[in-house]
Amino acid sequence: MDTNFNPKTIFTGDNLPIMRGMNSASVDLIYLDPPFNSNANYAAPIGSEAAGAEFKDTWTLNDVDAAWLDLIEAKHPALNRVIHAAMTDSDKSYLIYMAVRLLEMHRILKPTGSIYLHCDPTMSHYLKLVMDAVFGKGNFLNEVVWKRTTAHNDSAVYGCIHDTILYYSKGDFPTLNEQYQPYSDEYLKRYRHTDENGKRFLDRDLTAGSLSGGGYPYEWNGITKIWRCPFTTMQEYHKSGKLYYTRNGTPRLKQFLDDMPGVPVQDVWIDIPPINSQAKERVGYPTQKPLALLDRIIKASSNEGHVVFDPFCGCATTLVAADRLQRDWIGIDISTKATELVVERINTDQGMFEDIVARTDIPKRTDIGDIPRYNAPENKTLLYGEQAGNCNGCGEHFQTQHLEIDHIIAKSVGGTDHIENLQLLCGHCNRIKGNRGQEYLLSRLNKD
Ligand SMILES: C[S@@+](CC[C@H](N)C(=O)[O-])C[C@H]1O[C@@H](n2cnc3c(N)ncnc32)[C@H](O)[C@@H]1O
Repeated sequence: MDTNFNPKTIFTGDNLPIMRGMNSASVDLIYLDPPFNSNANYAAPIGSEAAGAEFKDTWTLNDVDAAWLDLIEAKHPALNRVIHAAMTDSDKSYLIYMAVRLLEMHRILKPTGSIYLHCDPTMSHYLKLVMDAVFGKGNFLNEVVWKRTTAHNDSAVYGCIHDTILYYSKGDFPTLNEQYQPYSDEYLKRYRHTDENGKRFLDRDLTAGSLSGGGYPYEWNGITKIWRCPFTTMQEYHKSGKLYYTRNGTPRLKQFLDDMPGVPVQDVWIDIPPINSQAKERVGYPTQKPLALLDRIIKASSNEGHVVFDPFCGCATTLVAADRLQRDWIGIDISTKATELVVERINTDQGMFEDIVARTDIPKRTDIGDIPRYNAPENKTLLYGEQAGNCNGCGEHFQTQHLEIDHIIAKSVGGTDHIENLQLLCGHCNRIKGNRGQEYLLSRLNKD
């Protein structure tokens, strides 16, 4: 697929319009660590590398939310139901903010791509519903629990020490490279032998006595038994030095520790510690995540040369990890400090000048050609099919000439002529709605 950005680009600005300018199916992996609706405002300590970086994490319903909600209401009914399940206006506002962005992420992710949404228990239950509505419940892969800090006392509740990472694919065949962790000390004790080259191994039973359904009867080393493997395999084990003999001469199979990959990574991650105050990677950015966390995600869900995208990139942890692993990367952050940190961190990391592009403009999509005027006949035909000939307000069926094209978000408040922002309304509903939002129209229709 075509991309309309250079590999290794950092954009400064709100990620919504920037993502809207990115071509569809242009990235392989998305990791996002957005504000969590924690009801706090974050700022980096003065004197740290990241000083000057700050972002707000408090939410209220305002006009922009209402316009976004109109779009969701008109085009994404399942998502709309999820948002209305939120308990407070602040939660609802946060979910609308996330939902419109996740819709864009779904569009720009390749069919083989995956997305990891990093959040915490404040909103993870709602975000999972939003992800189900946007990516499809069948594409949910894991809810990863990451132990992000050591135990501490929270008064009156259990100490809250984990974050949640929601992992979804876009389609049925996502890129996946299984990752492994080291074995526990308990398991390692089983490798109690060492061969002449100093390699640790454990010995495995080669007799088939305890197996139901057969085995291979023959004599080996003067012992006649039913064995698990055919005679020829036993000979191969012998030639390659893989047989270990007990005191009475019974052969057993050597399983070398070096040949074992480790324990496949499970969905609870307790082996990646938080960044400590002395860590080299620490830049003092509020909410900075450890490189090891991103390293695991990027290795698991992308290959060299793939494009990794972080729309809330903060101090560039994802981008630095991707760069080290020979992936291309795109980052967006609303804070200008983030751009400075990306350039600084990657240059320091690589020890040379990297080809980083820093942009503040909105990219122009190159995969859709010029957008037709909103009232072009092809738009009407498309929308008529999409809505099955029904008015998107009252739901009544009409012949095409009695339906009018409406901007869901009015042009006066930034709505575009893109088909995603258009719907068909009957003349009556269109008059009621005027320049107001879809929510106003629906509440009026419900009252009448
Ligand atoms: C939780 S932090 C990300 C930290 C990052 N994972 C790291 O390791 O540094 C969230 C980031 O989102 C950025 N942000 C908030 N709203 C944004 C928006 N609308 N567009 C782009 N970035 C935004 C903030 O400036 C902040 O840097």
